[in-house]
Amino acid sequence: MASKYIKSELKSLFTAHWEYLAVNAACKIDLFDLIDQGYRSLDLLQQKMNSKGKGLYHLVQFLLEQEYLIGDCKRLALGARGSYLTEGHSESLKQMCLLWAAEHMDAWQHLSYSLKTGEAAISHLYGKGYFDYLNDHPEKLANYQQAMFEYARDDYRDLYLHWDFSAYEVITDLGGGTGALLKALMPAFPEKRFRLCDLPEVLQLREQQDSNLEMIAIDFFEPLPFTSDLIILSRILHDWPDWQAARIIQNCKSALNPGGHLMLIENANERVQAHLLSLNMLAICKSHERSTEEYISLLDEGGFELVANTEFNQLQNLIVFKCTTEI
Ligand SMILES: C[S@@+](CC[C@H](N)C(=O)[O-])C[C@H]1O[C@@H](n2cnc3c(N)ncnc32)[C@H](O)[C@@H]1O
Repeated sequence: MASKYIKSELKSLFTAHWEYLAVNAACKIDLFDLIDQGYRSLDLLQQKMNSKGKGLYHLVQFLLEQEYLIGDCKRLALGARGSYLTEGHSESLKQMCLLWAAEHMDAWQHLSYSLKTGEAAISHLYGKGYFDYLNDHPEKLANYQQAMFEYARDDYRDLYLHWDFSAYEVITDLGGGTGALLKALMPAFPEKRFRLCDLPEVLQLREQQDSNLEMIAIDFFEPLPFTSDLIILSRILHDWPDWQAARIIQNCKSALNPGGHLMLIENANERVQAHLLSLNMLAICKSHERSTEEYISLLDEGGFELVANTEFNQLQNLIVFKCTTEI
């Protein structure tokens, strides 16, 4: 590649985050929601927000240029991108947009600390692990859980087509957040019993109750107070280094009914070249993404053997295990 293109690419890279941060700021001031609610001109928006200076003008112009918005400053409407950033959209991505510019951005700014020490930048910055930090900040926990819900809503939509869940009587989603995965699964198996488990602060965020869904507050580093035919760990083990992942696996093993299965849903490193994802996990959780082989070996050490490994969606594999001792 000619050096002038390389240099031009690099120059673009250095400011590539500006677009995201501009869109993030628009979400923070609820710009897309306000337009959706009828504040359809720059003047109206400026009055509503009591905003000073020309910043809002430049933001709106940029969003028009990039088709987050359509129309002009006098008659604004949401473009396709902008509409996904409203709270009310049934497939809203607003909470994701808010999430990545907060503590994650701080952590990435201190990635060099993680590279030198092998420790999570988050712990260095906030004095505690990410999940402990979230649990101490209810607004941040709500944002994180809503963002996870938005990912899970899209990613687990057709999970029921990828595995035969009919064999299990009780299905447990461990670290299931506010229940997006089970929400996708439950309509396909109305006769089954489901169990959603997460930290107490997280389960409190869920309002809706279902008669066939039990919610149990747990800490998955402690022995689990139930038994189950299937335990699902989706996007859980990638949050933890091996020694902590091993503890979660051990607690699952003790809670599985004879013949039961442990199902991992995780990014499969070998498919997605997940090095940037791994750097993110390092900075946030002192962890990393793993290949399917690494998961199999981790589970093998925990007394499990592989039953199935399938590509589930673009990023994730569905990897199912049973206890080795049952052979
Ligand atoms: C990356 S999210 C995954 C959420 C969901 N399973 C999914 O796939 O979208 C990790 C989840 O683990 C939960 N978690 C973290 N530490 C936990 C602990 N010690 N005990 C139980 N749940 C925990 C978090 O609250 C969060 O819901």
